[in-house]
Amino acid sequence: MIEAAELVQTEYLNTKSGVERKELGQYFTGSAVADYMASMIGPVDTPVVRIIDAGAGVGILTVSAALRCLEMGNNQVHAVLYEIDGNAVAHLEVNMKHVARQFRKQAGKFTFEIRHEDFVLSRPDKTEAPFHVSSINPPYFKYNAKTSPYAGAAADLYKGNPNIYASFMAVVAACMAPKGKMVAIVPRSFTNGLYFKGFRHYLNQTMSLDKLHIFRSRDKVFKALSVLQENIICSYTKHRQVARIEVCTSTGYEDLNQVETRRYPAKLLIDTTNEHEIIRIPESAKDAAILQTVEGWSSSFLENGYFISTGPVVEHRTREYITTPDDKADSVPLLRMHNVKAFKTVWTGSNRKDARFRLLDGHEKHTLENQPYVLLKRFSSKDEKRRLVAGIHDPQTIKGKLTALENHLNYIGREDGELDLAEAYGLAVLFNSTFMDKYFRCISGNTQVNATEIRLLKLPTREVIDQVGATFPDGAESDQQRIDSIVNFHLKVKESAVA
Ligand SMILES: C[S@@+](CC[C@H](N)C(=O)[O-])C[C@H]1O[C@@H](n2cnc3c(N)ncnc32)[C@H](O)[C@@H]1O
Repeated sequence: MIEAAELVQTEYLNTKSGVERKELGQYFTGSAVADYMASMIGPVDTPVVRIIDAGAGVGILTVSAALRCLEMGNNQVHAVLYEIDGNAVAHLEVNMKHVARQFRKQAGKFTFEIRHEDFVLSRPDKTEAPFHVSSINPPYFKYNAKTSPYAGAAADLYKGNPNIYASFMAVVAACMAPKGKMVAIVPRSFTNGLYFKGFRHYLNQTMSLDKLHIFRSRDKVFKALSVLQENIICSYTKHRQVARIEVCTSTGYEDLNQVETRRYPAKLLIDTTNEHEIIRIPESAKDAAILQTVEGWSSSFLENGYFISTGPVVEHRTREYITTPDDKADSVPLLRMHNVKAFKTVWTGSNRKDARFRLLDGHEKHTLENQPYVLLKRFSSKDEKRRLVAGIHDPQTIKGKLTALENHLNYIGREDGELDLAEAYGLAVLFNSTFMDKYFRCISGNTQVNATEIRLLKLPTREVIDQVGATFPDGAESDQQRIDSIVNFHLKVKESAVA
């Protein structure tokens, strides 16, 4: 039955161009994933189960969810399905009729209503009776926070306009009856992105996160599906947060029948110690042990008095200031991503990407005091092993009146004055360690390293950071093993817990 629905889906998609599909965010769910999502739905204690589908496509998720209800003994089901694309509606109807037939065969009753409407703008939470079950794969795209009709469409639920998929999840959550279940396959970005802060707060207040599924070989899975975002499956119930959350992993979509499951305390995953309420996802028991160690640290990036900012030189806006390495006339080296290596910043003037920054009128907006900083690359490529790469900017090595840092770099210093070089080394050892890289990956699935995420990191105290720095004198060899053994020793982490 579900395979037949998938066939209808393929036939339908073949009639659509790539451009049309992209506009409506039409990445449809395969039958294995649809069934897996439905398996997260437990028995429902009500005579008629009401299902809501938001952005139904041809209805594959509701097919699976309804059949799951039937299997659990809930043989009276009513589904309300929202789909904006008129061309999908006829196919949706065919699939729903198949489901109704299947229910009749098993002495059950399945009824449905298709709403050819905009789900977010219709706000069914305000007009429909509450629902018990929802399995969704919403569209995702950013919209203009000033001009889009979606801007503020869910403002009574949460603050901000991060991405359309958040509006879908928020409205579905609002549609649910107490103990109602929402299973969603969505980008991972909501778990930590700054723009999703208001949305996370709403979700954490309204729903309990019961289960998360992540894919270990994300690059392969999502590239194969032509989906650029990393997706996760999350399962929420409308009641107070449960004490433990299940984290499931599989390599990809093919091995969803061999999922590994672990249970963790909710507070290890949902960080409620600050207003950002970031959701951290340990991919393995070792990652969870790392999170646990970090929880035990008594300090944080901010409590230690550090600041992090993004390099002020935006090249396309400062073209007239940028010059060649041999143009020495009142200029300083411009530090770009390629100049930053682990522990050092190398600017010789002989790399073809090296450039200088002229101190023309108005340069003050783009230049900094030439002081010691820890430089953190903001971007890593998918193929790079490490997310965090920390170099040190030493004013004795790259001399000059001022420093010019390009926008693809973050720089770390102290709020209360100059960062001491020994402390800078301590911080760089920490950031370049496997331990911190893994900690960071629990927080962010993105290859970008944002200043906001670093600002929220827990850290060891400054004393420990100084001790780490002292064992790593400037110019020392920086092989990973040595960095890791220094960090593990000072953080009292067993080598086997990280490797
Ligand atoms: C990612 S697809 C998923 C479809 C289906 N649920 C599945 O899992 O295969 C999202 C669907 O939402 C529909 N859609 C996009 N914007 C919508 C809106 N504002 N209201 C209702 N449906 C919308 C698209 O046409 C598309 O069919």
